[in-house]
Amino acid sequence: MSRAVKFSRYGGAEVLEILEVDDRPPAQGEVRVRVVTAGLNPGEIAIREGALRTVYPARFEGGEGPEGQGSDFAGVIVEVGDRVDGVSVGDEVIGFSDGRNAQAESITIAADRVIPKPHSVSWEVAGALFVVGTTARASVDSVRIRRGDTVVVAGAAGGVGVLATQLAVLGGAAVVATASKENHAFLESVGAIPVEYGKGLVDRIRRIVPDGVDAFIDAHGEGNVEAAIALGVDRDRINTIADFAARKKYGVRGDGMSTVAPREALIELGRLLANGELQLPIAATFPLDQVRAAYERLGQRHGLGKVVLEVANGRD
Ligand SMILES: NC(=O)c1ccc[n+]([C@@H]2O[C@H](COP(=O)([O-])OP(=O)(O)OC[C@H]3O[C@@H](n4cnc5c(N)ncnc54)[C@H](OP(=O)(O)O)[C@@H]3O)[C@@H](O)[C@H]2O)c1
Repeated sequence: MSRAVKFSRYGGAEVLEILEVDDRPPAQGEVRVRVVTAGLNPGEIAIREGALRTVYPARFEGGEGPEGQGSDFAGVIVEVGDRVDGVSVGDEVIGFSDGRNAQAESITIAADRVIPKPHSVSWEVAGALFVVGTTARASVDSVRIRRGDTVVVAGAAGGVGVLATQLAVLGGAAVVATASKENHAFLESVGAIPVEYGKGLVDRIRRIVPDGVDAFIDAHGEGNVEAAIALGVDRDRINTIADFAARKKYGVRGDGMSTVAPREALIELGRLLANGELQLPIAATFPLDQVRAAYERLGQRHGLGKVVLEVANGRD
Protein backbone atom coordinates (compact mmCIF):
# COMPACT_ATOMS: atom_id res chain seq x y z
CA MET A 1 0.00 0.00 0.00
CA SER A 2 1.06 3.60 -0.52
CA ARG A 3 -0.46 7.07 -0.50
CA ALA A 4 -1.92 8.88 -3.51
CA VAL A 5 -3.73 12.17 -4.19
CA LYS A 6 -7.38 11.44 -4.98
CA PHE A 7 -10.74 13.20 -5.24
CA SER A 8 -14.26 11.76 -5.27
CA ARG A 9 -16.26 14.81 -6.37
CA TYR A 10 -15.56 17.88 -8.49
CA GLY A 11 -14.57 21.04 -6.63
CA GLY A 12 -11.80 23.26 -5.30
CA ALA A 13 -8.59 22.12 -3.63
CA GLU A 14 -10.67 21.11 -0.57
CA VAL A 15 -11.91 17.96 -2.39
CA LEU A 16 -8.35 16.60 -2.57
CA GLU A 17 -7.51 13.77 -0.17
CA ILE A 18 -4.53 11.57 0.46
CA LEU A 19 -5.75 7.95 0.30
CA GLU A 20 -4.02 4.62 0.93
CA VAL A 21 -4.16 2.58 -2.27
CA ASP A 22 -2.81 -0.80 -3.38
CA ASP A 23 0.45 -0.73 -5.33
CA ARG A 24 -0.13 -2.42 -8.67
CA PRO A 25 2.69 -4.77 -9.70
CA PRO A 26 4.03 -4.05 -13.20
CA ALA A 27 2.50 -6.06 -16.03
CA GLN A 28 4.43 -6.95 -19.17
CA GLY A 29 6.16 -3.86 -20.58
CA GLU A 30 5.64 -1.84 -17.38
CA VAL A 31 7.73 -0.59 -14.47
CA ARG A 32 6.83 0.52 -10.96
CA VAL A 33 8.41 3.76 -9.77
CA ARG A 34 8.80 5.08 -6.21
CA VAL A 35 7.94 8.71 -6.81
CA VAL A 36 10.30 11.34 -5.36
CA THR A 37 8.77 14.51 -6.82
CA ALA A 38 5.61 15.34 -8.79
CA GLY A 39 4.78 18.65 -10.49
CA LEU A 40 1.50 20.55 -10.52
CA ASN A 41 -0.09 22.11 -13.60
CA PRO A 42 -3.02 24.54 -14.01
CA GLY A 43 -4.90 22.13 -16.32
CA GLU A 44 -5.35 19.77 -13.35
CA ILE A 45 -7.34 22.46 -11.56
CA ALA A 46 -9.78 22.73 -14.49
CA ILE A 47 -10.21 18.94 -14.63
CA ARG A 48 -10.73 18.67 -10.86
CA GLU A 49 -13.27 21.50 -10.86
CA GLY A 50 -15.25 19.64 -13.56
CA ALA A 51 -14.80 22.43 -16.13
CA LEU A 52 -13.58 19.84 -18.68
CA ARG A 53 -15.85 16.96 -17.67
CA THR A 54 -17.22 16.41 -21.19
CA VAL A 55 -13.66 15.88 -22.49
CA TYR A 56 -11.95 14.45 -19.41
CA PRO A 57 -14.63 12.95 -17.15
CA ALA A 58 -13.38 11.77 -13.76
CA ARG A 59 -13.31 8.03 -13.07
CA PHE A 60 -15.98 8.40 -10.37
CA GLU A 61 -18.49 9.46 -13.07
CA GLY A 62 -18.31 5.89 -14.38
CA GLY A 63 -18.43 4.36 -10.88
CA GLU A 64 -14.73 3.43 -11.06
CA GLY A 65 -13.74 4.94 -7.71
CA PRO A 66 -11.84 8.12 -6.88
CA GLU A 67 -9.93 10.05 -9.56
CA GLY A 68 -6.22 10.73 -9.26
CA GLN A 69 -4.12 13.64 -10.37
CA GLY A 70 -0.86 14.49 -12.04
CA SER A 71 1.17 13.88 -15.20
CA ASP A 72 4.69 14.94 -14.14
CA PHE A 73 6.89 12.86 -11.87
CA ALA A 74 10.42 11.72 -11.17
CA GLY A 75 11.51 8.79 -9.07
CA VAL A 76 13.36 5.50 -8.73
CA ILE A 77 12.44 2.21 -10.45
CA VAL A 78 11.49 -0.39 -7.81
CA GLU A 79 10.01 -3.18 -9.97
CA VAL A 80 10.36 -4.15 -13.61
CA GLY A 81 7.77 -6.23 -15.51
CA ASP A 82 8.47 -8.87 -18.17
CA ARG A 83 9.76 -7.81 -21.56
CA VAL A 84 11.26 -4.53 -20.46
CA ASP A 85 14.70 -3.74 -21.85
CA GLY A 86 17.15 -1.05 -20.83
CA VAL A 87 15.50 -0.17 -17.49
CA SER A 88 16.62 -1.65 -14.14
CA VAL A 89 15.63 -1.51 -10.50
CA GLY A 90 17.40 1.46 -8.90
CA ASP A 91 17.40 3.62 -12.05
CA GLU A 92 16.50 7.27 -11.49
CA VAL A 93 13.92 8.39 -14.05
CA ILE A 94 11.84 11.30 -15.30
CA GLY A 95 8.28 10.18 -16.03
CA PHE A 96 5.37 11.36 -18.13
CA SER A 97 1.99 9.89 -17.34
CA ASP A 98 -1.24 10.22 -19.29
CA GLY A 99 -3.20 8.42 -16.56
CA ARG A 100 -3.80 11.24 -14.03
CA ASN A 101 -1.93 9.31 -11.36
CA ALA A 102 1.52 10.88 -10.90
CA GLN A 103 0.83 12.57 -7.55
CA ALA A 104 1.38 9.40 -5.55
CA GLU A 105 4.11 7.54 -3.71
CA SER A 106 4.02 4.74 -6.28
CA ILE A 107 3.13 4.66 -9.96
CA THR A 108 2.99 1.67 -12.31
CA ILE A 109 3.44 2.77 -15.90
CA ALA A 110 4.59 1.68 -19.37
CA ALA A 111 8.37 1.45 -19.41
CA ASP A 112 8.55 3.74 -22.45
CA ARG A 113 6.96 6.54 -20.42
CA VAL A 114 10.12 7.07 -18.36
CA ILE A 115 13.53 8.39 -19.46
CA PRO A 116 16.78 8.34 -17.49
CA LYS A 117 17.12 11.31 -15.10
CA PRO A 118 20.44 13.06 -15.75
CA HIS A 119 22.29 13.00 -12.43
CA SER A 120 22.87 16.77 -12.35
CA VAL A 121 19.17 17.60 -12.86
CA SER A 122 17.59 18.09 -9.42
CA TRP A 123 14.64 15.97 -8.31
CA GLU A 124 12.41 19.06 -8.16
CA VAL A 125 13.19 20.03 -11.77
CA ALA A 126 12.96 16.42 -13.03
CA GLY A 127 9.54 15.94 -11.43
CA ALA A 128 8.19 19.17 -12.92
CA LEU A 129 9.43 18.87 -16.47
CA PHE A 130 7.00 16.92 -18.62
CA VAL A 131 3.95 19.14 -19.18
CA VAL A 132 5.73 22.49 -19.29
CA GLY A 133 8.71 21.12 -21.20
CA THR A 134 6.71 19.51 -23.99
CA THR A 135 4.38 22.53 -24.18
CA ALA A 136 7.29 24.98 -24.40
CA ARG A 137 8.90 22.84 -27.11
CA ALA A 138 5.60 22.75 -29.04
CA SER A 139 5.09 26.51 -28.70
CA VAL A 140 8.56 27.36 -29.97
CA ASP A 141 8.36 24.85 -32.85
CA SER A 142 4.91 26.12 -33.79
CA VAL A 143 6.10 29.64 -34.62
CA ARG A 144 9.16 28.34 -36.52
CA ILE A 145 11.84 30.54 -34.98
CA ARG A 146 14.79 31.44 -37.18
CA ARG A 147 18.12 32.89 -36.05
CA GLY A 148 17.77 36.69 -35.91
CA ASP A 149 13.99 36.71 -35.38
CA THR A 150 12.38 38.95 -32.78
CA VAL A 151 9.95 36.93 -30.67
CA VAL A 152 7.63 37.88 -27.83
CA VAL A 153 6.91 35.33 -25.10
CA ALA A 154 3.87 36.36 -23.04
CA GLY A 155 3.66 34.82 -19.57
CA ALA A 156 7.42 34.31 -19.60
CA ALA A 157 7.79 33.69 -15.85
CA GLY A 158 5.35 30.75 -15.73
CA GLY A 159 6.36 27.12 -16.09
CA VAL A 160 5.80 27.02 -19.85
CA GLY A 161 6.92 30.58 -20.54
CA VAL A 162 10.21 30.36 -18.68
CA LEU A 163 11.26 27.36 -20.81
CA ALA A 164 9.83 28.76 -24.08
CA THR A 165 11.80 31.97 -23.48
CA GLN A 166 15.07 30.08 -23.10
CA LEU A 167 14.39 27.73 -26.04
CA ALA A 168 13.71 30.76 -28.24
CA VAL A 169 16.95 32.42 -27.06
CA LEU A 170 18.83 29.16 -27.78
CA GLY A 171 17.20 29.19 -31.24
CA GLY A 172 18.92 32.50 -31.95
CA ALA A 173 16.00 34.89 -31.45
CA ALA A 174 15.89 38.22 -29.68
CA VAL A 175 13.21 37.50 -27.06
CA VAL A 176 10.96 40.08 -25.41
CA ALA A 177 9.53 38.39 -22.31
CA THR A 178 6.44 39.65 -20.46
CA ALA A 179 6.44 39.25 -16.67
CA SER A 180 6.02 41.11 -13.37
CA LYS A 181 8.92 43.29 -12.33
CA GLU A 182 10.17 40.85 -9.67
CA ASN A 183 10.85 38.21 -12.36
CA HIS A 184 12.76 40.51 -14.71
CA ALA A 185 16.22 39.83 -13.29
CA PHE A 186 15.93 36.10 -14.00
CA LEU A 187 14.63 36.65 -17.54
CA GLU A 188 17.46 39.08 -18.22
CA SER A 189 19.98 36.56 -16.86
CA VAL A 190 18.88 34.00 -19.50
CA GLY A 191 19.27 36.51 -22.33
CA ALA A 192 15.73 37.86 -22.74
CA ILE A 193 14.52 41.48 -22.67
CA PRO A 194 11.85 41.66 -19.94
CA VAL A 195 8.81 43.92 -20.13
CA GLU A 196 5.88 44.31 -17.74
CA TYR A 197 2.53 42.97 -18.99
CA GLY A 198 -0.76 44.89 -18.60
CA LYS A 199 -2.16 48.12 -20.02
CA GLY A 200 0.14 49.72 -22.63
CA LEU A 201 1.99 46.45 -23.42
CA VAL A 202 1.88 46.90 -27.21
CA ASP A 203 3.44 50.38 -26.99
CA ARG A 204 6.11 49.19 -24.57
CA ILE A 205 7.05 46.36 -26.94
CA ARG A 206 7.14 48.75 -29.93
CA ARG A 207 9.55 50.99 -28.03
CA ILE A 208 11.84 48.04 -27.21
CA VAL A 209 11.78 46.54 -30.74
CA PRO A 210 10.88 49.35 -33.17
CA ASP A 211 11.69 47.16 -36.20
CA GLY A 212 8.79 44.85 -35.35
CA VAL A 213 8.04 41.37 -34.04
CA ASP A 214 8.33 38.22 -36.18
CA ALA A 215 6.63 35.68 -33.92
CA PHE A 216 4.53 35.66 -30.73
CA ILE A 217 4.23 32.86 -28.18
CA ASP A 218 1.27 33.32 -25.85
CA ALA A 219 1.68 31.21 -22.71
CA HIS A 220 -0.94 33.10 -20.71
CA GLY A 221 -4.07 34.26 -22.61
CA GLU A 222 -5.92 37.43 -21.51
CA GLY A 223 -5.55 39.62 -24.61
CA ASN A 224 -2.10 38.49 -25.71
CA VAL A 225 -3.32 37.23 -29.09
CA GLU A 226 -4.90 40.66 -29.70
CA ALA A 227 -1.58 42.26 -28.70
CA ALA A 228 0.25 40.04 -31.21
CA ILE A 229 -2.15 41.05 -33.97
CA ALA A 230 -1.79 44.73 -33.05
CA LEU A 231 1.99 44.29 -33.36
CA GLY A 232 1.47 43.09 -36.94
CA VAL A 233 2.66 39.51 -36.39
CA ASP A 234 1.63 37.06 -39.14
CA ARG A 235 -1.21 34.91 -37.70
CA ASP A 236 0.60 31.76 -38.71
CA ARG A 237 3.45 32.78 -36.38
CA ILE A 238 1.25 33.45 -33.34
CA ASN A 239 0.72 30.46 -31.05
CA THR A 240 -1.48 30.39 -27.96
CA ILE A 241 -1.74 27.55 -25.47
CA ALA A 242 -4.27 29.32 -23.27
CA ASP A 243 -6.78 31.35 -25.30
CA PHE A 244 -8.91 28.97 -27.36
CA ALA A 245 -11.55 31.60 -28.09
CA ALA A 246 -8.93 33.91 -29.63
CA ARG A 247 -7.45 31.00 -31.56
CA LYS A 248 -10.81 30.36 -33.18
CA LYS A 249 -11.67 34.02 -33.66
CA TYR A 250 -8.37 35.07 -35.27
CA GLY A 251 -7.20 31.81 -36.85
CA VAL A 252 -3.89 31.78 -34.96
CA ARG A 253 -2.05 28.58 -34.05
CA GLY A 254 -2.86 26.53 -30.95
CA ASP A 255 -0.13 23.91 -30.74
CA GLY A 256 0.35 22.46 -27.27
CA MET A 257 1.90 19.48 -25.54
CA SER A 258 0.05 16.89 -27.64
CA THR A 259 1.82 18.09 -30.81
CA VAL A 260 5.32 16.94 -29.85
CA ALA A 261 6.79 13.47 -29.28
CA PRO A 262 7.14 13.54 -25.47
CA ARG A 263 9.99 11.09 -25.07
CA GLU A 264 12.27 12.78 -27.61
CA ALA A 265 11.39 16.25 -26.29
CA LEU A 266 12.11 15.23 -22.68
CA ILE A 267 15.44 13.63 -23.56
CA GLU A 268 16.53 16.84 -25.30
CA LEU A 269 15.32 19.05 -22.44
CA GLY A 270 17.03 16.80 -19.90
CA ARG A 271 20.29 17.17 -21.82
CA LEU A 272 19.97 20.98 -21.96
CA LEU A 273 19.19 21.14 -18.23
CA ALA A 274 22.11 18.86 -17.40
CA ASN A 275 24.47 21.02 -19.51
CA GLY A 276 23.29 24.17 -17.79
CA GLU A 277 21.97 25.57 -21.09
CA LEU A 278 18.44 25.59 -19.69
CA GLN A 279 17.03 26.35 -16.22
CA LEU A 280 13.65 25.53 -14.72
CA PRO A 281 13.17 27.67 -11.60
CA ILE A 282 11.16 26.16 -8.76
CA ALA A 283 8.73 28.69 -7.25
CA ALA A 284 7.67 26.51 -4.29
CA THR A 285 7.76 22.96 -2.97
CA PHE A 286 5.24 21.24 -0.67
CA PRO A 287 5.14 17.80 0.96
CA LEU A 288 2.57 15.38 -0.51
CA ASP A 289 0.17 15.80 2.40
CA GLN A 290 0.03 19.57 1.74
CA VAL A 291 -1.28 19.09 -1.80
CA ARG A 292 -4.24 21.42 -1.13
CA ALA A 293 -1.90 24.26 -0.13
CA ALA A 294 0.25 23.50 -3.17
CA TYR A 295 -2.73 23.99 -5.50
CA GLU A 296 -3.74 27.15 -3.68
CA ARG A 297 -0.22 28.45 -4.33
CA LEU A 298 -0.43 27.44 -8.00
CA GLY A 299 -3.87 29.05 -8.24
CA GLN A 300 -2.35 32.45 -7.39
CA ARG A 301 -0.81 32.32 -10.90
CA HIS A 302 2.21 34.45 -10.00
CA GLY A 303 5.81 33.57 -9.32
CA LEU A 304 8.79 32.24 -11.21
CA GLY A 305 8.58 28.66 -12.49
CA LYS A 306 7.06 25.55 -11.00
CA VAL A 307 5.18 24.37 -7.92
CA VAL A 308 6.28 20.83 -7.00
CA LEU A 309 5.28 18.14 -4.48
CA GLU A 310 8.12 16.50 -2.58
CA VAL A 311 6.74 13.00 -2.20
CA ALA A 312 9.78 11.18 -0.79
CA ASN A 313 13.45 11.64 -0.17
CA GLY A 314 15.51 10.94 -3.31
CA ARG A 315 18.31 9.42 -1.22
CA ASP A 316 16.22 6.75 0.59
N1 LIG B 1 -2.36 23.62 -24.47
C1 LIG B 1 -1.45 22.96 -23.77
O1 LIG B 1 -0.91 21.95 -24.20
C2 LIG B 1 -1.08 23.50 -22.41
C3 LIG B 1 -0.13 22.81 -21.64
C4 LIG B 1 0.29 23.37 -20.44
C5 LIG B 1 -0.28 24.56 -19.98
N2 LIG B 1 -1.26 25.14 -20.73
C6 LIG B 1 -1.86 26.41 -20.25
O2 LIG B 1 -0.86 27.41 -20.43
C7 LIG B 1 -0.97 28.40 -19.39
C8 LIG B 1 0.37 28.56 -18.68
O3 LIG B 1 0.69 27.37 -17.99
P1 LIG B 1 1.87 27.38 -16.91
O4 LIG B 1 2.01 26.01 -16.39
O5 LIG B 1 3.06 28.07 -17.47
O6 LIG B 1 1.19 28.32 -15.80
P2 LIG B 1 1.82 28.97 -14.49
O7 LIG B 1 3.22 28.47 -14.28
O8 LIG B 1 0.84 28.79 -13.40
O9 LIG B 1 1.85 30.50 -14.88
C9 LIG B 1 2.01 31.43 -13.89
C10 LIG B 1 2.63 32.66 -14.52
O10 LIG B 1 1.63 33.44 -15.17
C11 LIG B 1 2.15 34.76 -15.22
N3 LIG B 1 1.07 35.72 -15.41
C12 LIG B 1 0.04 35.98 -14.57
N4 LIG B 1 -0.75 36.95 -15.11
C13 LIG B 1 -0.19 37.29 -16.32
C14 LIG B 1 -0.53 38.19 -17.35
N5 LIG B 1 -1.61 38.95 -17.28
N6 LIG B 1 0.27 38.25 -18.45
C15 LIG B 1 1.38 37.48 -18.56
N7 LIG B 1 1.75 36.59 -17.61
C16 LIG B 1 0.98 36.49 -16.50
C17 LIG B 1 2.84 34.95 -13.90
O11 LIG B 1 3.91 35.84 -14.10
P3 LIG B 1 4.36 36.89 -12.96
O12 LIG B 1 4.73 36.08 -11.74
O13 LIG B 1 5.53 37.55 -13.60
O14 LIG B 1 3.17 37.79 -12.71
C18 LIG B 1 3.31 33.55 -13.51
O15 LIG B 1 4.69 33.37 -13.69
C19 LIG B 1 -2.11 27.91 -18.49
O16 LIG B 1 -3.29 28.56 -18.91
C20 LIG B 1 -2.20 26.43 -18.79
O17 LIG B 1 -3.48 25.90 -18.53
C21 LIG B 1 -1.66 24.65 -21.92
